[in-house]
Amino acid sequence: MTKIALQHVTRVFGSGDTQVRALNDVSAEFQHGSLIALMGPSGSGKTTMLNMIGALDRPNDGTILLNAADIGAMSDGERAIFRRGIGFIFQRFALIPTASAYENIEFALRIADVPRPVWQERIIHTLTQLDIADHAHHRPNELSGGQQQRVAIARALAIHPQLLLADEPTANLDAQRGAAVLTLFTELCQSGVTIVMSTHDPAAERYASHVCRMRSGQVERIDVRATASATQK
Ligand SMILES: Nc1ncnc2c1ncn2[C@@H]1O[C@H](COP(=O)(O)OP(=O)(O)O)[C@@H](O)[C@H]1O
Ligand SMILES: [Mg+2]
Repeated sequence: MTKIALQHVTRVFGSGDTQVRALNDVSAEFQHGSLIALMGPSGSGKTTMLNMIGALDRPNDGTILLNAADIGAMSDGERAIFRRGIGFIFQRFALIPTASAYENIEFALRIADVPRPVWQERIIHTLTQLDIADHAHHRPNELSGGQQQRVAIARALAIHPQLLLADEPTANLDAQRGAAVLTLFTELCQSGVTIVMSTHDPAAERYASHVCRMRSGQVERIDVRATASATQK
């Protein structure tokens, strides 16, 4: 159960003439069980926002609350522990190149402190959910972009996160596989998982409970689509 609140969050990169306000005084609030789509042009701040919520980066200004915890105020050690409970799906997958799909997930389970006896079942279950179990022993360079993306999604789901952060999770998938992933996300949200995904995918928008429209580091508006998941087939 994760409630997210951003209060006047600003993130500035660089300095002087080259300074970029990747996030410029962003405030937003999302309840647990939401499927939030961050939409907006390239460079509008979507990835920066995911990095902030996931405690991978700190704001220059403002507060980020996850449930009651102020993640900006945590020490590096506290943030590392906090991140163990979050599922991350990175835009470039961030798979370990020398490890198989199976071993990549194993590694994530170890980091997340999931007890070893359940690893095998978890790994096979999530690889099967993503229809990639037949490639369990392939390394990333033996997989297509879409296959790598599905392994990255399986890895994030295997730790049973209460908060899932996904950067363009369907970008490399065909329409049918993308829809399968979005349906899975919808089901997770119904069981209380909070998901924030950045996306350019118009299909993804239809599955979201909230569409957060971003432009130039700001949230233009948030469309609430409360019945979205219920109306999806
Ligand atoms: N580490 C960084 N160093 C410098 N500029 C950055 C960095 N990360 C992001 N930016 C800049 O911040 C802005 C927002 O980037 P980003 O959050 O990646 O946007 P999006 O994910 O919507 O494409 C862009 O102008 C980008 O160039
Ligand atoms: Mg991005």
